[in-house]
Amino acid sequence: MHIIEPRHLDATQQQQLAALLQDCVNGGASVGFLAPLSGQEAAHYWQQLARELHPTSLRCWLALHDDSIVGTVQLALCGKANGRHRGEIQKLLVHSRHRGRGIARQLMQAAEQAAREVGRSLLVLDTDSESVAASLYPGWGWQPAGDIPAYAARPDGVLHATRYFYKLLPG
Ligand SMILES: CC(C)(COP(=O)(O)OP(=O)(O)OC[C@H]1O[C@@H](n2cnc3c(N)ncnc32)[C@H](O)[C@@H]1OP(=O)(O)O)[C@@H](O)C(=O)NCCC(=O)NCCS
Repeated sequence: MHIIEPRHLDATQQQQLAALLQDCVNGGASVGFLAPLSGQEAAHYWQQLARELHPTSLRCWLALHDDSIVGTVQLALCGKANGRHRGEIQKLLVHSRHRGRGIARQLMQAAEQAAREVGRSLLVLDTDSESVAASLYPGWGWQPAGDIPAYAARPDGVLHATRYFYKLLPG
């Protein structure tokens, strides 16, 4: 397994990412979509993301296993005048067949390292309070900042609390 940061997402990568997103959403992950997530809707998300990727505002990493995408994460670099020290981690996804092997940890390390390199000193993210992800972040140095009840719907439509996390990156 190795991790790359693509400058662009080609059609094959978009197709594989769509399958990865479907796997996560249809498996119950609350990452912005309802189930069943169709291939078309998933593909549309990555087409749009591909257009938005830019080194100064939105970056993306891919975990590859035998040339197939098995995980991904995004780093959104805040562009506001008062937020240029800040970034947000988004869409950390690992395919259900490849979990528990440290792929998410390595993706997060890649995104954090990149944030440090461009001088960001604060990272934030939010996730379903009851998700596996919420139980992993504290072990990676993330501080919980609090829960908001009934914030988003899980893929099955049931509202759940969201937990905000932050991580200070020493300069
Ligand atoms: C959350 C998610 C990204 C974790 O991916 P992963 O590659 O399995 O995670 P890792 O293998 O890097 O595991 C990290 C740690 O958690 C542990 N872990 C992994 N899966 C676990 C599980 N189901 N239950 C408990 N611990 C688990 C690992 O042992 C590892 O411990 P370590 O860091 O001390 O070595 C993955 O479950 C996923 O894609 N879920 C669906 C999408 C989602 O919810 N994303 C988060 C959005 S914010």
